[in-house]
Amino acid sequence: MQISDIRKEYTRHTFNEQDAAASPFEQFNKWLHEALHSGIPEPTAMNLATVGANGRPSARIVLLKHVDSGFVFFTNYASRKGIDLQQHPFAALTFHWVEMERQVRIEGKVEMVEPALSDEYFNSRPLMSRIGAIASEQSRPLPNREVLENRMRVLEAEYADKEPARPQNWGGYRLIPDYFEFWQGRRSRLHDRIVYEFAADGSWKIYRIAP
Ligand SMILES: Cc1cc2nc3c(=O)[nH]c(=O)nc-3n(C[C@H](O)[C@H](O)[C@H](O)COP(=O)(O)O)c2cc1C
Repeated sequence: MQISDIRKEYTRHTFNEQDAAASPFEQFNKWLHEALHSGIPEPTAMNLATVGANGRPSARIVLLKHVDSGFVFFTNYASRKGIDLQQHPFAALTFHWVEMERQVRIEGKVEMVEPALSDEYFNSRPLMSRIGAIASEQSRPLPNREVLENRMRVLEAEYADKEPARPQNWGGYRLIPDYFEFWQGRRSRLHDRIVYEFAADGSWKIYRIAP
């Protein structure tokens, strides 16, 4: 099979200016709700693209955990993405809801969330995930898997009868968006693309762009 021969017509939905909610958050929540209820795998998985000190982008999947004034995810602050965000506090998110033939792109400034929100989420995680967050120096070289597993065993014994506290280097980030694009696959590659751009007067400018 040649990958260049793989083709699919997108026919399931349409998305027009008159369907677009006034607020991009309302529109996002509507599509997220549909994704959550459609049984598709990992509907909260999003690609997070950051920029390193050398100006090069890097991207990875993280899970969306909260939507308020922004899009919240949790990670290790000393990871590669954490170091990128310290140096360039801007990022891009992409959701791909395959079965719905939809993509959402979100861009904006990133800040650390308030420690209370990180504590609340950390404490809601299963014990082994909390211990795992303490054990793993995310993105750092590891000589082998055994080193990590040994560290886990030591920590499991240490926390056998006490609750682990959130490590200082682990917590949430919030991306505050100033740009959204809602992409709906359509027939013959004539997809619908509706943009919300935050304007200087504090409103969201809504417009269509070419596929
Ligand atoms: C489905 C999926 C969900 C993930 N969720 C997270 C997450 O919420 N937080 C996180 O730090 N890493 C998550 N990861 C792992 C990241 O993709 C990545 O390996 C890790 O964060 C290290 O990235 P970095 O070295 O660029 O900082 C997830 C990976 C997958 C495939």
